[in-house]
Amino acid sequence: MTRELIHRYGGPVPRYTSYPTANHFTPEVTVEDYRAWLSAVPNGEPLSVYVHIPFCQEMCWYCGCSTKAVHRYEPISDYMKPLMAEFANVAALLPAGHEVTHVHWGGGSPNMLSAIDIGRLAAAIRARLNIGAVAEFAVEVDPRGVTDDRVAAFADAGVNRVSIGVQDFNEDVQKAINRVQPFDLTRRVIEKFRDHGVNGINVDLVYGLPHQTRRSVEETIRQVLALAPDRIATFGYAHLPARIRHQRLIEDKALPDAIERFGQSNRLARILEAEGYIRIGLDHFARAHDSLTKGAVRRNFQGYTTDTAEHLIGFGASSIGSLSQGYVQNAVAVADYARRIAEAGLATVRGARLTDDDRARRFAIESLMCDFNLPAAELRRRFGDAAAPVLADAEALAAADPDHLIERCETGFSLTTRGKPFVRTIASCFDSYLDSAKGLHSASV
Ligand SMILES: C[S@@+](CC[C@H](N)C(=O)[O-])C[C@H]1O[C@@H](n2cnc3c(N)ncnc32)[C@H](O)[C@@H]1O
Ligand code: SF4
Repeated sequence: MTRELIHRYGGPVPRYTSYPTANHFTPEVTVEDYRAWLSAVPNGEPLSVYVHIPFCQEMCWYCGCSTKAVHRYEPISDYMKPLMAEFANVAALLPAGHEVTHVHWGGGSPNMLSAIDIGRLAAAIRARLNIGAVAEFAVEVDPRGVTDDRVAAFADAGVNRVSIGVQDFNEDVQKAINRVQPFDLTRRVIEKFRDHGVNGINVDLVYGLPHQTRRSVEETIRQVLALAPDRIATFGYAHLPARIRHQRLIEDKALPDAIERFGQSNRLARILEAEGYIRIGLDHFARAHDSLTKGAVRRNFQGYTTDTAEHLIGFGASSIGSLSQGYVQNAVAVADYARRIAEAGLATVRGARLTDDDRARRFAIESLMCDFNLPAAELRRRFGDAAAPVLADAEALAAADPDHLIERCETGFSLTTRGKPFVRTIASCFDSYLDSAKGLHSASV
């Protein structure tokens, strides 16, 4: 039965880290719109800040992030100038009484910054924006480029959570993805962060990579468990060689098929749950003490988060911001981003202006992705008339559901145990942009 379900529902669909998804952003949203939207942020509003560092030591061949390999420091030091200017220009438009509750540096690999630049960047953010006393400050790091002085600089800057990229510890897998990363090196880096008081440790894993098997992912997860991270993300490899050139270096025939991918994902989940981790949404797991298990969970560009701020400000090349009016994205290429910041002060090149229908569908998709549930009364309360077509879609889906993936429940609709692994596919039934995006997405399981 599972085999049939995977064939029927495991096809390519978006990951829904936003709605509309980024491939539907258009140049109709401009720097002028972004300026107006920033100026309209209400005073006292909690804000979330994302800073993109688009540099890595080497490209991992599976990587779907917006980044490039650099072998000199100059492009990185050059990048600091437009980044600092963007902080100043955005801060000048925001209300004086805003409070930043979450800071996230992602990439790429923020540990490509020197210890001095880590300190400078954090100081610039604190000088321009009001960072709340209890703010979460998270950074993504590639352990292969983490030095003692950088760990100390992150800790001094106030970082309290690190996401450590691991993916897989098996040597054959590591060679096939161009990412050789010994277990001992990873362990030492985690210990170093803990020694410096950075106690929120996340580990990123990927299943569905070349040469991975259920047994190999089990060996990796057992090693990861010895490191006792607070959170573990298990992403399904998004293989899009038509769009991402370096993924063509991965041999198609070494990739596990859909059934094997499903088995790997299940094996990881089963082991993590047996070890006391609590599953969050589709692919995150957290230990019981972790804040991710305590209250409302949201979905944003980094995955699942406790960040409930309605406004996300993105800084740096390719970064995406989310404001009440819609989404904005900066120029992707670093040189283009830097030129636009110098000329116009901001670097918006595209975005999406949200309609009432978008807002209602976004809420439905996010609720499904986070809680496997679509709360009907809440949808009506928040979105009024715009809720009706979304609920009509849910009714139609539940009525024509031969495999019993979704059912009516007290609060509205919820996914069945059988439906949960296909949550992305079910969410896609509420996506009114989907038809024009075929071929752009990765396997849903
Ligand atoms: C910016 S990286 C993390 C930090 C650092 N650059 C590193 O790799 O160690 C973000 C994470 O996205 C995940 N990722 C990247 N490309 C992916 C892909 N094509 N499919 C699924 N997950 C992917 C990996 O787990 C990776 O650790
Ligand atoms: S996975 Fe991380 S280290 Fe590897 S290329 Fe992507 S961003 Fe860089």
